[in-house]
Amino acid sequence: MDPEEAAERLVSKYGSGRGSLIRILQEIQKTFGYLPREGLEAVSRRLGVPLSEVLNVATFYHQFRLEPLGTYVVQVCFGTACYLRGSPQVYEAMRLAAGLNGGRTTTEDRAITIEKARCFGCCALAPVLMVVSSNGSERYIHGRLNPQEARRLVYAYRQRAAVAAGYGSASAGSPG
Ligand code: FES
Repeated sequence: MDPEEAAERLVSKYGSGRGSLIRILQEIQKTFGYLPREGLEAVSRRLGVPLSEVLNVATFYHQFRLEPLGTYVVQVCFGTACYLRGSPQVYEAMRLAAGLNGGRTTTEDRAITIEKARCFGCCALAPVLMVVSSNGSERYIHGRLNPQEARRLVYAYRQRAAVAAGYGSASAGSPG
């Protein structure tokens, strides 16, 4: 089922009009893992709600994501301890190494998503980041980071994502 078909089915299920918009977006996200642009356009047409309004709702609520998740989701802590110990520099170094610009959070190859996060409760290791695989099977914490180490992690997780996708050679354990 493509996003267009999904929108058609959901509008028949929930009815047209603004009142159905959030429920329909929730279901589209559940199906695709994010809100594809074609899906938003189809919802706009079928509900008779301007696309700008659909986009406003999709960007206002944190539950919605406009990009697919990468194989690995990197969450850089922006809690106070991490922030003061350099998490903004770690975050920027990772985004640069991953080739992310503008509002994008997921790399072209869908290997990595990089996001800001709140305190993980291990502030003694600041600055800290957590990496979670999008299928939920892996979770790693990396602490006492600096921009150089952060860049290394981008390459390591990108390689790991390639292995998971069936390219490249495998290595066991955490990239840390
Ligand atoms: S402030 Fe980053 S882990 Fe607590």
